[in-house]
Amino acid sequence: MGILYNEQAGIFKLDALDTSYVIGIFDDERFVSHLYYGKKIIDSDVRYLYGPLYQVRPSVLPGQAGRIMDAVPFEYPTFGCGDYREHCLEVETVDGYHACDLRYEAHKIYPGKPALEGLPSTFEREAGDCNTLELVCRDKVLNLGVTLLYTVFEQLNVITRAVLVTNEESNAVYIKRALSGCVEFDHQNFDVLTLHGSWERECGPVRTPLRQGKIVTESTRGESGPTDNPFLAVLSCDATEDTGEVFAMNLVYSGNFLGVAQGHHFRGTRIVMGINPVNFSWKLEPGDTFTAPEVVMVYSDRGLGKMSRTFHDLYRGHLIRDVYPDTSRPVLINNWEATYFGFTFDRLIEIAAEASKCGIELFVLDDGWFGDRNDETKGLGDWFVNEEKLPGGIARLSKEINKLGMKFGLWIEPEMVSPDSKLFREHPDWAIQIPGRHRSLFRHQYVLDWSRREVRSHIYDMIHQVLSGANVEYIKWDMNRTLTEAASAALPADRQGELCHRYVLGVYEIMGRLREDFPSLLLENCSAGGSRFDPGVLYYSPQIWASDDSDAIERIQIEMGASMCYPLSAIGAHVSAVPNHQTGRITPLETRGYAAMAGTFGYELNIAQMSEAEKAVIREQVDIYHKYNWIVKEGDLYRIGDPFANRDHACWMVVSRDKKEALVTYIQTHALPGYFGSARKLRLKGLMDEAVYRAEVISVSSEVVNGDAHLEGGQNAGKGREVLEVSGSALMNAGYWMERLGGDYMGMMIHLKAIV
Ligand code: GLA
Repeated sequence: MGILYNEQAGIFKLDALDTSYVIGIFDDERFVSHLYYGKKIIDSDVRYLYGPLYQVRPSVLPGQAGRIMDAVPFEYPTFGCGDYREHCLEVETVDGYHACDLRYEAHKIYPGKPALEGLPSTFEREAGDCNTLELVCRDKVLNLGVTLLYTVFEQLNVITRAVLVTNEESNAVYIKRALSGCVEFDHQNFDVLTLHGSWERECGPVRTPLRQGKIVTESTRGESGPTDNPFLAVLSCDATEDTGEVFAMNLVYSGNFLGVAQGHHFRGTRIVMGINPVNFSWKLEPGDTFTAPEVVMVYSDRGLGKMSRTFHDLYRGHLIRDVYPDTSRPVLINNWEATYFGFTFDRLIEIAAEASKCGIELFVLDDGWFGDRNDETKGLGDWFVNEEKLPGGIARLSKEINKLGMKFGLWIEPEMVSPDSKLFREHPDWAIQIPGRHRSLFRHQYVLDWSRREVRSHIYDMIHQVLSGANVEYIKWDMNRTLTEAASAALPADRQGELCHRYVLGVYEIMGRLREDFPSLLLENCSAGGSRFDPGVLYYSPQIWASDDSDAIERIQIEMGASMCYPLSAIGAHVSAVPNHQTGRITPLETRGYAAMAGTFGYELNIAQMSEAEKAVIREQVDIYHKYNWIVKEGDLYRIGDPFANRDHACWMVVSRDKKEALVTYIQTHALPGYFGSARKLRLKGLMDEAVYRAEVISVSSEVVNGDAHLEGGQNAGKGREVLEVSGSALMNAGYWMERLGGDYMGMMIHLKAIV
């Protein structure tokens, strides 16, 4: 059992793979205090760690004394009783008082992990995976019960947390803030890592030295958003990809969130994460319980790489429910960048027919198949097929696609409504709005009030009907705008602060229903690209479209950034046309394939207009995907050439769990001059020292000449190279020569297989 309780010492010790987390119930006062988090320790009585921070200070006035609450490391700090640092809980009484003081009351330790009502969370896959500690605390004045849930995944360096707040008083109280977790450290020798960006530039790692003060990552947009991802890590200042300590938090939630790292005036650090308190308030009636979402805490003693691999293992094993657990997901082709809204039945079939000849397995019809939607301005909310555009409807189209030997998938954006739609004309009050205030339009659309059961059920019923009437095996669930003027016509004044959270709960409910009603449906999420790329969404959908920027070179950065905490198998990525529609960049088709194969892999271009030589490359890519994707899906990711730090190259590799095979991808993002050009030797990672590996270049980019892939000379020229047979120790310590490739954006893939 990874959770020990030393009753005499009042100490709880949570041991994961090579980390310990220690909680102390302090003295007669019974504060739930934080004592230690870091590399494993063996002692169970570490009361000496309380140290001077807990001492009562005599006052200059005789007979008076006080404890400096602002110095005590708390497990779940509250507002109002002397702790002025970033707090987790703030409660307002009906009389308008704001103070809360939690003390330990009881606890339970048990195997397994409870589900969180209405919320996604990690789960125990097999008995014995994890153990849970429930610490029950109480504020006696408010008669408020607060249960801190800790689950230890013993085979991973993972502890998850969540919080239940129960009102046991006879009056309602208002929760103004209920974050999910807090960790205290006794020093400030940290850098803080967060993921930032914008639309088409998601998940860029930002590393900031910690000082006294706060570093904040947050969203108030109603979704987790493209500017900040619900991830925050503190790492030792000298930590690298492979060395140093990292303590990371990732919130299993898809709405407004807050993450703060605070260097405070007692020279310590506090990190917290949870639902953003901005525009949040929750009325808790007597007997009601509020559940704060799960925060995942990962510890690494070997840098960011190990942190990422731990997140990947946790999410692949205990969060994502894949409808293709044992096989690779189908290679898809999406018509969006091929046709935008300008498709006809015949054009779609033409694309699908060519795609199927190349081995592509799933055809996805994107935006524009429903209502009166021929451009962005109309039709959202009218989830019935436009038969003028698609005679015979989705049923006929999916049948035709199936006849080509392909699966069929469909795009929806169920949370939205166009002002120019039947739905809006019938139910104008269903859109989120503040009466009397201008309602902002984004992309010509409003957000539906999914906190209302009748609204989400109405939409779901329409979509259910489409899905039941045809063989739809994949859904792309999109969400293309943020919440503004957030208020609900169905909530009373003192519950308006609940809207954003209720909205997210509504989204989770419908995604859950979709999964239950159509268990073999592959759900891919999207939000104007990667604006809702978070673990909450991953619970329902094993893959998420990472960005509307499909440019291979940009995309590598987005994928490597997302890989900080999300597995490659979750990162939606497609090969698109050149010049790229977002950047105008021209890259070789193979390189676009390499970038997309570091994700879920698919195409988003008009394959019917491609040359035979290009289609041959596509066939080859599909083959490579089927042959090697199992390594990407299950293996351990090692980032080698950091595309953020290097102007000229990117490199990553994925190693199978048994370390017998690996796939290395190398991209020359900027060609260099000189005798050896961009040739460079890179040290590989994650292999077995003693094993001898056969290293074979399985694909090399073609040179791009005049905007076209010059297939004759360049294509896969490196495949004829000498195959190298050398030990893991040489590949990891001495390195592997990445030979000089032609110009910018050339790349290659190398397969390694242990032969001895
Ligand atoms: C969003 C998505 C795109 C595409 C369009 C359709 O922008 O991110 O992939 O589906 O919507 O309108």
